[in-house]
Amino acid sequence: MKTNLSSSKPSQLETDCLVVVTLDQGDKDKPSPTVESSDAAVRDASKDVISSGEVTAKLFEATLLHNPTGLKAKRLLLLGGGKAKTFSAAELRKLAGAAVRTLKGKNIHSFALVLPENGIAAADAVRAVIEGAFVGEFDPGYYKSDRKDKEKEKIETLTIVIPEKSGDPKALEGALQAGRIVAESQNFARDLINEPSNRMTPTIMAERAKKMAADVGLKCEVMDGDKIRQLKMGAFWGVSQGSDEPPALIVLRYEPQGAPKDVHLGLVGKGVTFDTGGISIKPADGMEKMKYDMAGAATMIGAMRAIALLKPKVKVTAIILATENMPSGKAQKPGDVQIAMSGKSIEIINTDAEGRLILADGLAYARQLGCTHLVDAATLTGAVVVALGYVNAGIFASTDDMYERFEKANKLAGEKMWRLPLDDEYKENLKSNIADMVNAGSRYGGAIFAAMFLKEFSEDTPWIHLDIAGTAWMEDNKPWIAKGPTGIALRSLVEFVKGWS
Ligand code: BES
Ligand code: MN
Ligand code: ZN
Repeated sequence: MKTNLSSSKPSQLETDCLVVVTLDQGDKDKPSPTVESSDAAVRDASKDVISSGEVTAKLFEATLLHNPTGLKAKRLLLLGGGKAKTFSAAELRKLAGAAVRTLKGKNIHSFALVLPENGIAAADAVRAVIEGAFVGEFDPGYYKSDRKDKEKEKIETLTIVIPEKSGDPKALEGALQAGRIVAESQNFARDLINEPSNRMTPTIMAERAKKMAADVGLKCEVMDGDKIRQLKMGAFWGVSQGSDEPPALIVLRYEPQGAPKDVHLGLVGKGVTFDTGGISIKPADGMEKMKYDMAGAATMIGAMRAIALLKPKVKVTAIILATENMPSGKAQKPGDVQIAMSGKSIEIINTDAEGRLILADGLAYARQLGCTHLVDAATLTGAVVVALGYVNAGIFASTDDMYERFEKANKLAGEKMWRLPLDDEYKENLKSNIADMVNAGSRYGGAIFAAMFLKEFSEDTPWIHLDIAGTAWMEDNKPWIAKGPTGIALRSLVEFVKGWS
C-alpha cells in the first residue's frame, strides 16, 4: 500500500473514494450527525443522506454514495465515528482499518481519508490512520487457493487529507513514516503468529528472526539445545526435551551509538510454537489454536524490527525462547523437578504450565546479559481470559515506576491493557513439598499465580509482564481487523522503548 499526504481541498481530490468521518454531536438517544470536513462541497454532497435520517454516525456505520455531486471523487464513504465527545485517536485508528476492510474487494484501489478536525493533533491523527489502515489490510487466508485473486483486491494507494494549517508538513511526513514502520512491524509479527506450527517451528522462527535482523541491521544470535543445556537452562530444556523439533534461543541486539550507559532494556518473549500441554495434555477441542502460543515471541521480534528502524537512543536486547510443548517418551512428567538457570528448583505439577518455565530462564538470562529493566510478553494463562476476556491484556508490574512508564506508552499506542496485582500474600501458593516452588497451583487467580512465579526470576530487576492470552488472537472478524492474530502489545512496547531515549 502506497501512502501519501495531501493538503488539497477534499472536494478537489481525484480518487476512487473519498472517506469522511461522521460524528454524533448529541448526548441523548437521538443522533445528531455531522460530517467532519470544513469543505462545504463535501457537506453539501452528504446533505440529502444526512437529512434522510439514514446516517446516525454510530461507530463503523458505513454509507457509500456514488458520483457525489460537486466532488471529483468517484464515491463518498461516510464512516461513523460514534459520539463526538469521546472520539479519539484510538477510534480514528480503527476507522482507518474499517475503511480498508469495507472498500477492498469492491474494485476500489485507492481512497483518500479526510482527517477530522476535532482536536486530535494532526501528527497523532496521521499516525493513527496509517497504523489502522495497515492493521485492516492484513488478511490471514494464507493457504486459500484463491489467494492470488484476493491479492488483486488490495488497496494500492491511501491518501491522508490533512486540514489547512495543520502545522509543519515535514513533521507530518515523519509521523506517516513512523506509523508505517510500526504498522508494518505489527503485520510482520502477525505473519509469524498466523503460520501453523508445521510452518513455524522454533528453527523457522530463528531463520525469520535472522533474516529480519540482517535486513534492518540488528545483531542476531541463535543458540541450540546443547547451548541451552550448557547455560543450565533446566526449566527451558525441561519443556523442550519432549519434542523432536529442536528448540532455539534467539537473541536480538540493538546497540545504538550515544545511548545512556545505565539503561539496558530486556524484552523476553514466549515462543511456544505449539502447546499440546505435554503429558498434562490439553483436550482436542480448540487445541488447533495453540499455534499462536508463540505470539509473545513474535511481538518481541516485530518490536525489535520497529526499534531498529526508528532508532531510539537506548540499548535493547530481545530474548526469545522458542520450543514446542509435546508429550513423548522423552517428555517431562508431573512431579519432575527441574533446576532453573537461576539455581531455583521447580516441581512440575502440570506440564501445561510450560510458558512460565521457559520465561523463568529467559528472565534469568536477560539479567545475566546485564538488562536493567525487563518486559516479557506471553500467551501465558487461560485464567487471564477468564479475568479480562478478549478486550484487555493483563499487565503486571513489579514497580509503580515501570507501570507508569508502560501505561503512558500504552495510551499513546491505543492498546487496551489492565493492571492486575502482585501482592506478597499470593506467594503462599508457590510452595512445594520437595522443591523451591511448584509451577502450578489452584485454579483461582491463575494469571496472578503465573506472574508471581515469574517474579521469582525477575528478582530485583524492575519488570513488566504482559499476559496476552486473550488478546493475541481475534476470535471473530471485526470491522477494523480480521479474525486471527492481532499483534497486540507491539505498539505499546515500541512506545515504551522510545520513552527511554
Ligand atoms: N498457552 C497456554 C495459555 C493459553 C490459554 C493461551 C488460552 C492462549 C489461550 C498455557 O501454556 C497454559 O496451558 N496454561 C494453563 C496453565 C495451567 C495448567 C496452570 C492454563 O491456563 O490452563
Ligand atoms: Mn500450556
Ligand atoms: Zn502455553
